[in-house]
Amino acid sequence: MRAALYDRYGGSAEVLRIEDIEKPEPGPGEVRVKIEYSGVNPTDWKSRGGSTPRPIDGFQIPHHDGAGLVDAVGDGIDPGRIGQRVWTVLAAAGRCWGTAAECSVVPADRAVPLPDGISAELGASLGVPAVTAHYCLFADGPVEGKSILVAGGAGAVGHFAIELAKFFGARVVTTVSGAEKAQLARKAGADLVVNYREASAAEQIRAFGPIDRVIEVALGANLSLDLAVLRPGGEIVTYAAEPADPSLPVRSCMNANVILRFVLLYGVPADAIQRAARDITTALTAGALTELPVHKFGLDDIAAAQDAVQGGAIGKVLVAPV
Ligand SMILES: NC(=O)c1ccc[n+]([C@@H]2O[C@H](COP(=O)([O-])OP(=O)(O)OC[C@H]3O[C@@H](n4cnc5c(N)ncnc54)[C@H](OP(=O)(O)O)[C@@H]3O)[C@@H](O)[C@H]2O)c1
Repeated sequence: MRAALYDRYGGSAEVLRIEDIEKPEPGPGEVRVKIEYSGVNPTDWKSRGGSTPRPIDGFQIPHHDGAGLVDAVGDGIDPGRIGQRVWTVLAAAGRCWGTAAECSVVPADRAVPLPDGISAELGASLGVPAVTAHYCLFADGPVEGKSILVAGGAGAVGHFAIELAKFFGARVVTTVSGAEKAQLARKAGADLVVNYREASAAEQIRAFGPIDRVIEVALGANLSLDLAVLRPGGEIVTYAAEPADPSLPVRSCMNANVILRFVLLYGVPADAIQRAARDITTALTAGALTELPVHKFGLDDIAAAQDAVQGGAIGKVLVAPV
């Protein structure tokens, strides 16, 4: 099969290459997925570039996210799954068989059935962003009836955080940096969209009411805004590291009785990932999750695809292996 792969860390054009390699067979408890689209996330270029290195066992086919058809199953897996449309979760975590290839092999529970009528483009956009958004939203309890602030609501994680929070009964305010992103955040269903660059951002959010939980993409940049709008004892859940670590205003955090939580998907417990997959399936079936604008690349252009994500492309970057 044709696969994109690398065997050392480095720049995209420098280390990513396309090779014909033997198609992997699924082992016990695994399924093989014929990939229609591979979804690119920031973690993919960070792993490949070596800024957040993950061990390479011989070679690494990049990308965790994908959508396609189960075309083979290993021992212990119902052969009835052959032909099932699925989306993948953490396909390349501790494994060389990422989704940037004609086929990927994953543990059966990391290939989640895609409900009828849901596009492969949306399926390939879900894994890292939607599962991260779900865990950030629910790690501290239900969101029903709560007021949630999603920082960066036009980002991939932010988009699904808005849609999942709304679907599960929250009121959602979100922040963006400009008009194009505001439109995407509104389309995702945010009740209020605020430009965080405006001096009145805190005032606008306070008018929405006290915030119970913040889903945060830039803790250092936004901590004073978050503390200004959070109810006493509220949570700030951070899933991204900025280039420089912030210094923590301990007294202000104490005054707010704030709870800080940090999330990295690679360490999220397996049962929480399965719960996320179930809730995402329910939301998909109800039509509550939507695609961001997609930018499609062929496998030969995988370096450009990863560079587009690194460059902050608005929407989701997908690679079509065939
Ligand atoms: N911890 C985990 O497991 C995990 C999982 C997924 C992603 N991540 C990380 O999370 C980050 C975002 O990932 P993504 O896929 O969602 O990326 P993305 O689609 O590029 O979205 C990032 C969004 O954050 C916005 N943003 C940047 N600075 C902001 C600020 N100060 N306030 C509000 N919004 C701000 C950006 O828009 P503007 O710059 O225009 O504001 C952009 O819309 C990446 O660093 C990624 O590595 C971590």
